[in-house]
Amino acid sequence: MQKKILVTGGTGYIGSHTVVELQENGYETIIVDNLSNSQIEVLDGIAGITGIRPSFENLDLCDLEKLRDCCHSYSGIKAIVHFAALKAVGESVEKPLEYYSNNLVSLMNLLQVMQEFNIPCLVFSSSCTVYGQPDRLPVTEDTPVKPASSPYGNTKQISEEIIRDTVAAVSGLKAISLRYFNPIGAHRSALIGELPLGTPLNLIPYITQTVIGVRDHLRVFGNDYDTPDGSGIRDYIYVVDLARAHVKAIERLLEDKGEQAYEVFNLGTGKGLSVFEIVKTFEKATGQQVHYKIYPRRPGDIARVYADTTLANKVLGWKAGTPLEDTLLSAWNWEKYIRGRMNH
Ligand code: NAD
Ligand code: UFG
Repeated sequence: MQKKILVTGGTGYIGSHTVVELQENGYETIIVDNLSNSQIEVLDGIAGITGIRPSFENLDLCDLEKLRDCCHSYSGIKAIVHFAALKAVGESVEKPLEYYSNNLVSLMNLLQVMQEFNIPCLVFSSSCTVYGQPDRLPVTEDTPVKPASSPYGNTKQISEEIIRDTVAAVSGLKAISLRYFNPIGAHRSALIGELPLGTPLNLIPYITQTVIGVRDHLRVFGNDYDTPDGSGIRDYIYVVDLARAHVKAIERLLEDKGEQAYEVFNLGTGKGLSVFEIVKTFEKATGQQVHYKIYPRRPGDIARVYADTTLANKVLGWKAGTPLEDTLLSAWNWEKYIRGRMNH
């Protein structure tokens, strides 16, 4: 019988790619999402790729009663992958209570139903934002967590603490937090991808929207950082590689391979790339020119961060292997697909 996995935020960007990978690895998935930052049509995309339409429950995880009803109607859930969260750093500064309430109450409700319904395993979406600007690079999981620079980042730090404490207190409960670096790209089918609402905050959707003509030019935030070409350096990881790591984490938890009940892994490529390197590689991969202008540094940005992924490589048996050119091409193909869809 297929093992049932509950995926919160499963119609979102990373969640939808993970649902595809879980289904392709023989798991049955149940998506819970309130569609606050995603669209129901994502289910068509998933079905188009895998041939299977996942079960879907439109509910707000902050509603404990409805979450209980959901767990009741799908008995035998083996694990939860928890993506659902609000994630806009700037917005979190303006609306801290909304972020603390949504991101923390939903997590606490999940931990509650895990105990009530004997769901033993949790995979949690954390972020490299917990490291701030680390003193040493690459960043290992032992790097001290720095005070959060936004309420969003703080919800990730507090969430990790809530999970660690709950797992320590409740026997039989196990969890893995995955600290993502910068997820980019879309499924090679171009049937699912990232759907930023309004003006994109992140680099890659801003590049693709500039090239397709929705934006006039890319704003490069700073060329005076202490980096080889002066622009900011990040660790960009293909979203499908990232999704595959969740399958490995689920396997590890279900097969009870870990010695500790709570584990943390960095998910990145291990390679730092500058904004200019991304622009050049995008141009090479797609044959399109990216018009850009230099702007002042974006407040709150750090100069550089990239992951040491040795632990995930060794312990999860996972490595991000997709070439950057293929990843950037997938982002461009997705942009063309959604613009085409919008124009019809
Ligand atoms: P996303 O916004 O595309 O997906 C999140 C989904 O959660 C959305 O579909 C939204 O409707 C849903 N959701 C939010 N609050 C909910 C609630 N209370 N009840 C039910 N559903 C709810 O985001 P994403 O980029 O796929 O990110 C997934 C996770 O990964 C988030 O926890 C995010 O903080 C984390 N993360 C993302 C990035 C990134 O750059 N995308 C980086 C690091 C960590
Ligand atoms: N950048 C630009 N122009 C843009 C957008 C970004 O030059 O229009 C630059 C930034 O200054 C930075 C790099 O491109 O140097 C990457 O910026 P992103 O906004 O794409 O990503 P961040 O590293 O700032 O943040 C992202 C998510 C956070 C998450 C973090 C770590 O937005 O939520 O990755 O996972 F916490």
